[in-house]
Amino acid sequence: MPSSAPVLRPNKTEAVSSQKKDEPISYDINLPYVDVKGDSQAHTKYPKYLPSWDKVWFDPLPPFEYEDPALRVTDKSKRNLLTPGTKVSDIQPRMGSIVEGVQLNQLSDAAKDELALLIAERKVVAFPDQDLIDDGPAAQEGFLRHFGKPNYQPVSGSMRGHPGFHIIHRDGNKEEITRFLEQRTTTTLWHQDVSYEIQPPAYVMLGLLEGPEVGGDTVFSATDMAYKRLSPSLTSWLDTLRAVHSSAKMINHARLAGGLIRKDAVDTVHPLVRVHPVTGEKCLFVNGEFITKIQGLKEPEQRWLLDFLMQHVISGHDFQARVRWQPRTIVMFDNRSTTHSAIVDYLDDDNSAKPRHIFRLCALGEKPIPVYDQFE
Ligand code: SIN
Repeated sequence: MPSSAPVLRPNKTEAVSSQKKDEPISYDINLPYVDVKGDSQAHTKYPKYLPSWDKVWFDPLPPFEYEDPALRVTDKSKRNLLTPGTKVSDIQPRMGSIVEGVQLNQLSDAAKDELALLIAERKVVAFPDQDLIDDGPAAQEGFLRHFGKPNYQPVSGSMRGHPGFHIIHRDGNKEEITRFLEQRTTTTLWHQDVSYEIQPPAYVMLGLLEGPEVGGDTVFSATDMAYKRLSPSLTSWLDTLRAVHSSAKMINHARLAGGLIRKDAVDTVHPLVRVHPVTGEKCLFVNGEFITKIQGLKEPEQRWLLDFLMQHVISGHDFQARVRWQPRTIVMFDNRSTTHSAIVDYLDDDNSAKPRHIFRLCALGEKPIPVYDQFE
């Protein structure tokens, strides 16, 4: 697949400064917005993966044709991926699997296509003890490129020379977490990754570099199952709605926190219900992080609808799966049929966090498919 790297313009970025006095509480407590300091530098197991901010500028990504690799699979038994030595354990009956006995860095292209199908079917798949974790950034990016074009984050910490990486990192951060919890009742932040792009990520890879022995799980909710639980009278209306997804709030937060901005804010209109290109299921396309407007509704109506839908998606534990991280685990998930949150439950009594260090790579997919073509 050809590179989708946007034009790099080194002169337009804003500098990372030290944290300001009147800095707002963290937007996503999982992430730093400025350089990691002190002890973290000394005792991290993966120093190359500490968040860094290259001064580059990304122009908007032009539209591109997307072929979902899962649609290339003809033999649904997945015999290239799931060989006799493979063990698959389901996290819950309808979603989430743990696959052992597979090394992702050994997969053929046919097996990667089957992996895409497995992810579309199970929504989230965890692969413990992966050698790919130690193969370096180029191998990790090369692996994910099979699933779609790379995404470049507007504000988050990345890796030097590898702007597709989004680095999730907590270690210490006592003051920041305390200030956050003085104003928030939970650290949970349900979202779909990068939903504001015209062609948001279809497949996402998370790789655990270091994590607490217990805690720091990631929880996923299935948006197709959530859709099916609603009454036809409601879904027939939802099928017709469109929402604006925006990265502006996130970018403004990073600016106030003294962080580097690499991309202008993107505002995109997406259907509130999207059709999954592989399973054909209708999925609620809602999240609490990026939606700023539902077209045609007044502000209180929009708040009421979004609150209802988010409560429905996040409180339905019968259509959720929680991934417990084991060492060197790689998790692949479908960003179209799930929404997710990290669980920041690994704090000490004084709110210091134990180290949790994960890299994320996103593979951009299709423009969300509406139920009706009047969106086109
Ligand atoms: C994410 O929010 O994209 C990553 C989830 C996690 O840190 O577990």
